Amino acid sequence: MGVLKVAVLISGGGSNLKTLLDAATDPAYPAQIVAVGSDTDAPGLAHAEAAGVPTFVVQPADYDNRTHWGEALAEQIRTHGVEPGAGLVVSAGLMRILPPNFVSQFSPKLINTHPALLPLFPGAHAVRDALAAGVSETGATIHVIDEGVDTGPVLRQVRVDIRPGETEDELHERIKELERPLLVETVRDIADGTLTLPPHRT
Ligand code: GRF
Repeated sequence: MGVLKVAVLISGGGSNLKTLLDAATDPAYPAQIVAVGSDTDAPGLAHAEAAGVPTFVVQPADYDNRTHWGEALAEQIRTHGVEPGAGLVVSAGLMRILPPNFVSQFSPKLINTHPALLPLFPGAHAVRDALAAGVSETGATIHVIDEGVDTGPVLRQVRVDIRPGETEDELHERIKELERPLLVETVRDIADGTLTLPPHRT
């Protein structure tokens, strides 16, 4: 089996991306990050630039609708060598819902990392919502992206105890300490065939 080509999509600081880029510098790692894309001028793109990985920005505001944005994003990813059904697309802090025409092209080789134990606390404020719910533990989930919001099949999870009085930022940082290596392991396991992705259903 050859090296798996991976495109990573981000919107923010990109610490998950950075961990993946670092892991992929090991020649034994079975995946190669071939491009990093964003919906905005994300600070995390600098991690890709520092690693010599090509970047692209496709902003929804430049398109008439979500379908056209999704097609432009897909085209950038294909242009960088990640073909639907062959390569993998990783959403690592992309703060947008990917449109159906994009999801149907790439899923199930389209995964997301989310800072909660799905199906609990989907959506953009997962850490805040877990704190507000008063639960004693939360965590991170890597899942296949389907047409819903954080609803696709769960691949891997890691648990984190919630400490009394901790803030959203403190808890999110402790989740990310475990989320980053989980993402590295999950991409490795997809690349070497240890983890088989479920067939895509619409
Ligand atoms: C991660 O916790 C991810 O699950 C969530 O946003 C965070 C991104 O962090 N969707 P970073 O940009 O990788 O530091």
